Amino acid sequence: MSWLLTGGAGYIGSHVLRAMVDEGLQVVVLDDLSSGLESRVPNHVPLITGSVLDGELLRATLRNHGVTGVVHLGAKKSVPVSVEQPLHYYRENVVGVLTLLEAMVAEGVSNLVFSSSAAVYGTSDAAQVAEDSPTLPDSPYGRTKLMCEWMIRDAAAAFGLSIMSLRYFNVVGCGDTDLAEVGGTNLFPLVFRALSEGRQPVVFGDDYPTRDGSCVRDYIHVEDLASAHVAAVRRVTDARVDETVNVGCGVGHTVLEVLDAIGATTGLDTTPVIAPRRAGDPASMVAATGLSEEILGWRARHGLTAMVESAWRGAQASRPDSSPVPALGGSSAS
Ligand SMILES: NC(=O)c1ccc[n+]([C@@H]2O[C@H](COP(=O)([O-])OP(=O)(O)OC[C@H]3O[C@@H](n4cnc5c(N)ncnc54)[C@H](O)[C@@H]3O)[C@@H](O)[C@H]2O)c1
Repeated sequence: MSWLLTGGAGYIGSHVLRAMVDEGLQVVVLDDLSSGLESRVPNHVPLITGSVLDGELLRATLRNHGVTGVVHLGAKKSVPVSVEQPLHYYRENVVGVLTLLEAMVAEGVSNLVFSSSAAVYGTSDAAQVAEDSPTLPDSPYGRTKLMCEWMIRDAAAAFGLSIMSLRYFNVVGCGDTDLAEVGGTNLFPLVFRALSEGRQPVVFGDDYPTRDGSCVRDYIHVEDLASAHVAAVRRVTDARVDETVNVGCGVGHTVLEVLDAIGATTGLDTTPVIAPRRAGDPASMVAATGLSEEILGWRARHGLTAMVESAWRGAQASRPDSSPVPALGGSSAS
């Protein structure tokens, strides 16, 4: 019995791979290396280099490796790029899942854990978003994830699959600096890049109805997210389920609190420049975590400081040179 992990050479996938292997699961990785790194896949794990859009390759992989379940992360993830290139995103993400489901049904593989996103909720005014909150995604990216969830549920009902969609919140940090995210576009990498270049980080909007006026988000350490996948793999294997679950901490931090935490960890001046609000940024987006605790028996363990420390270590390790980051303020501030 083995598992196919798509996107296992990616940032999150490589952490999921480690967690699955540590759990004693047999795993084969399929990744087109469009943003993944071969070096993130240990030598003892088979790596098939190819796309989930290649149905023949998928079927051969499922057959040849005796695969009984799939953890599907291999997809494109940039919200702004999805706005510029929506058809590319629909092909990669939606046709990717369609092709995967066809291959699974053809080869009799019935267990699936799918990497979805809090982006399916869109802009919400709720203090916490639960799995049954309205799904009104703001971006083509969010819509691709929601369409995938729908296709997976329909296929599960028709073909008796056991499935779970995990809606990730804001994933940060790293377990090992070799697995760190490279060139991300979320808050942490943007702040680290600004600090590395001697610029002040930019905060978009300080007049939201939150405790300090900046946006509130639910950050989750990638190692916690990885352990949620192991719990999901157990769940879909142990019983036939059709479930959709938030994966977040259930705790929100404002952008200004994150900057303070980064300042405390790095010793750098993180005083921001305040820019106008960006369109489509909800004031607050925090996961309701009752369902993940109930059905996965899982909850996040890492707090904000651990997330910042590991993310900073990862960012430092992936800098092209190892020169110290210049302190902000004085002559080095832009
Ligand atoms: N990073 C986040 O905060 C976040 C939040 C919510 C959901 N997600 C989802 O998690 C998954 C992994 O994201 P990540 O942050 O690790 O991104 P990533 O870009 O590091 O990883 C994606 C991996 O999938 C591979 N891939 C892309 N298209 C493929 C294809 N057609 N066939 C085979 N492999 C392909 C890439 O080479 C890469 O290794 C994605 O599905 C993403 O949408 C990420």
